[in-house]
Amino acid sequence: MSVAQNDFRNAMGCFATGVTVITVDQDGEVHGMTANAFCSVSLDPVLVLICVDHRARTHAHLHSRKRFGINVLRSDQQAISEYYASSVENHEQAEAAGASFQRTAHGTPVLQGGLAYLECRLHSTQAAGDHTIFIGEVEDVVVREGEPLLFFRGHYRKTSEAQPGSPASAFKGSE
Ligand SMILES: Cc1cc2nc3c(=O)[nH]c(=O)nc-3n(C[C@H](O)[C@H](O)[C@H](O)COP(=O)(O)O)c2cc1C
Repeated sequence: MSVAQNDFRNAMGCFATGVTVITVDQDGEVHGMTANAFCSVSLDPVLVLICVDHRARTHAHLHSRKRFGINVLRSDQQAISEYYASSVENHEQAEAAGASFQRTAHGTPVLQGGLAYLECRLHSTQAAGDHTIFIGEVEDVVVREGEPLLFFRGHYRKTSEAQPGSPASAFKGSE
């Protein structure tokens, strides 16, 4: 017996995430899509994955361009997330939503002023139900100061002003 989609959504919504915008070149224009199905995969080589719905316009663009940016949003960039969560052919209102872009040396569009970006070259894909897992080899990263935009139980959240907790020592290996 399979789990009801709503129950699945509710359970996954308990897993708090950051919010990214996937950016890809589309005939010289920037196409973007809000995504939180993003995680690291491997350190050697450095790989990450994103999961993209077959129906998303971004799906075809990723297959054809084979390079993309993963832009981690800052706490004050909710309007950008909302803008790129709607499927339009041309993102003519991007500036009004607060989004402006630069190009990397490879021509990949990346968001100006995000918390971080990872520039990726498509490594491989894996069909998975109604989504495709796009695995990207990370070619460059830029990290900036600031707080993240969060997504939890279907709502945008911000980190509290409280002091950060202790570091995750389990990830420090043999130190
Ligand atoms: C917070 C948030 C996270 C999302 N994460 C994903 C995701 O990981 N994968 C996906 O395919 N769609 C995701 N979506 C939905 C897409 O952003 C949405 O379907 C978008 O319109 C697709 O744009 P496109 O058709 O221009 O590619 C998310 C939406 C929101 C609001």
